[in-house]
Amino acid sequence: MSSDSSNTIESVLQEQRVFMPADEIANKASIGSLSEYKHLAELAKSDPDKFWGDAARKELHWFEPFNKVLDWSNPPFATWFQGGKMNLSYNCLDRHLNSSKADKEALIWEGEPGDVRRFTYRELYVEVCKTANALKAIGIKKGDLVALYMPMVPEAAIAMLACARIGAPHSVVFGGFSAEALRDRLIDGEAKAVITADGGFRKDKAVLLKPSVDSALEGNACPSVDSVIVVQRTNENVNMKSNRDYWWHELISPQSAECNAEPMESEDRLFVLYTSGSTGKPKGVVHTTAGYNLWTHLTFKWIFDIRDEDVYWCTADVGWITGHSYIIYGPLSNGATTVMYEGAPRPSNPGAFWELIQKHKISIFYTAPTAIRAFMKSGRTVPDQYDMTSLRLLGTVGEPINPEAWIWYKDVIGGGRCPIVDTWWQTETGGVMISPLPGATPTKPGSATLPLPGIEADVVDAEGKSVEAGEGGYLVVRRPWPGMMRTVHGNPQRFRESYWEYIKPVDGKHIYFAGDGARRDADGYFWVMGRVDDVINVSGHRLGTMEIESALVSHPAVSEAAVVGRPDELKGEAIVAFVTLESGRNFDNALINDLKVHVALEIGAIARPEEIKSSDALPKTRSGKIMRRILRALASGEEVSGDTSTLEDRTVLDKLRA
Ligand code: WT7
Repeated sequence: MSSDSSNTIESVLQEQRVFMPADEIANKASIGSLSEYKHLAELAKSDPDKFWGDAARKELHWFEPFNKVLDWSNPPFATWFQGGKMNLSYNCLDRHLNSSKADKEALIWEGEPGDVRRFTYRELYVEVCKTANALKAIGIKKGDLVALYMPMVPEAAIAMLACARIGAPHSVVFGGFSAEALRDRLIDGEAKAVITADGGFRKDKAVLLKPSVDSALEGNACPSVDSVIVVQRTNENVNMKSNRDYWWHELISPQSAECNAEPMESEDRLFVLYTSGSTGKPKGVVHTTAGYNLWTHLTFKWIFDIRDEDVYWCTADVGWITGHSYIIYGPLSNGATTVMYEGAPRPSNPGAFWELIQKHKISIFYTAPTAIRAFMKSGRTVPDQYDMTSLRLLGTVGEPINPEAWIWYKDVIGGGRCPIVDTWWQTETGGVMISPLPGATPTKPGSATLPLPGIEADVVDAEGKSVEAGEGGYLVVRRPWPGMMRTVHGNPQRFRESYWEYIKPVDGKHIYFAGDGARRDADGYFWVMGRVDDVINVSGHRLGTMEIESALVSHPAVSEAAVVGRPDELKGEAIVAFVTLESGRNFDNALINDLKVHVALEIGAIARPEEIKSSDALPKTRSGKIMRRILRALASGEEVSGDTSTLEDRTVLDKLRA
């Protein structure tokens, strides 16, 4: 098993520091002690139906009650809360309107240029109703898929909630993806409409989005798409096609401010979100209504220990699962105030995050280790200029956090007083799976600590047997949970094979394999080591090496390509590509640059290789499989260790070394 993460076994074994939960957090927290956590975990384990059923009834509003908690008679296809009817948008909005939350701020949005918009729950409700009516007006019906390709503007949140309200599943495509990547997703999901914007602001300038939508749809490439709704954000000139394109403001302003939330079946599709795997094209991860609502609601409440006066900010983009679950659905279902920011720290404003924390008196802050490492590198002078005493809780997500970055985050950003929740989860899990509970769990820097109540996580070998403490293995979940993905859109077989049949226990049970390697220490704490498949994690963004390889070989100069991750101090991993060229091609700087641009156009700037190397041949086994282990070692300047006897051509290694 290989791993390219910063949590090496050495650092895990050396890490001795333990931080106990502070009394003032524990006293008010929803789970306020380790024994309370253990008690809940025990209840969930001994009678899961009662545990989840009680939680679903207590935490959510139902139009009609469910009559069965879990049906696991046809694994790995789970059915949760059968017979129940509910609506996520109702749970995020309507149910707060009869309480003091009605006039509480639901969403505070800050644009990159510094413009601010605020929405109370009542105001957000009105915007969502109008947008839901607008979607109906252009012919969107329950069950139709609506794609979003948007910058971080409030309309993105409004559009998602409006889709949920009328029962039209959404498929958010990260605004940094290329027109090609957008087109693939529109075709795969058979989207009926696209909601986009003229553009957004990035690094102090307007970046256009609408032209990518035009290009994705060109020549009727996506015949299912009938309409495009365009938010005016930058006021840049964009083309509007008649009978297809509508301006958001023109379409929405005349609509009625009332729109009943559609009663949805528990298992009705809520959204599809594409993510990279080790083989094939990105897969459309399908999440459904009730289980996802319950899981994001509960996890948000438990992990962020939310209180009515909190101002919570997650720095993710709505194009990723973190944005779905922890900017929008989890916080709003709990009636919290959530902050959304269009920008990012940049040379003209390196303190952008800290300025926002000071300005909006943010109390809970959730970001990625890659950002923390970048801040750490530039030192504490910038953060020290801001008043961040409003903070009381810090979180991280997306990749393993190295203990030094964890300590820096706690001391410099958290002023030494804020607990850190290192949350392990994935697009597929819907919400967090392994994380400290701030009032209950003693933390160790670099460890995501313990699974949440109801989550039977384990570290196992290929037969599904638990490995000894301290040993490496596959990170798995032994039982279904409400927020789990239900299938891969259009490809149930892939869902079965890649997640539930990868580990093969002798008793034939289904175990969920996450794609990560991990260890548990003697206290049962989980230390996630990173991906063990051909997926790389660049600055918290997940990319399949095969997608990047396909993009490279689609360039006329490239005959073969292999892509690996190299450990990188800031990004976690950096992309290194090995290519063999078509005869007569010269490997010069112009071509290298051309290939990098080509990958960015095919997938998006996040997939642009850091380094491209050329060679006459790639190391392969006799059956033709590229030996990535060798390339990984070469890319990171390490000795090639282990067995190389299966290499088809031993001279390749010497050539690559040269
Ligand atoms: C992969 C999932 C879930 C939100 C963001 C990414 C890695 C995520 C952690 C963590 C170590 C982590 C895993 C996982 N990952 N959180 N706290 N510690 N690794 O979602 O794009 O679906 O990627 O991110 O490798 O499998 P995603």
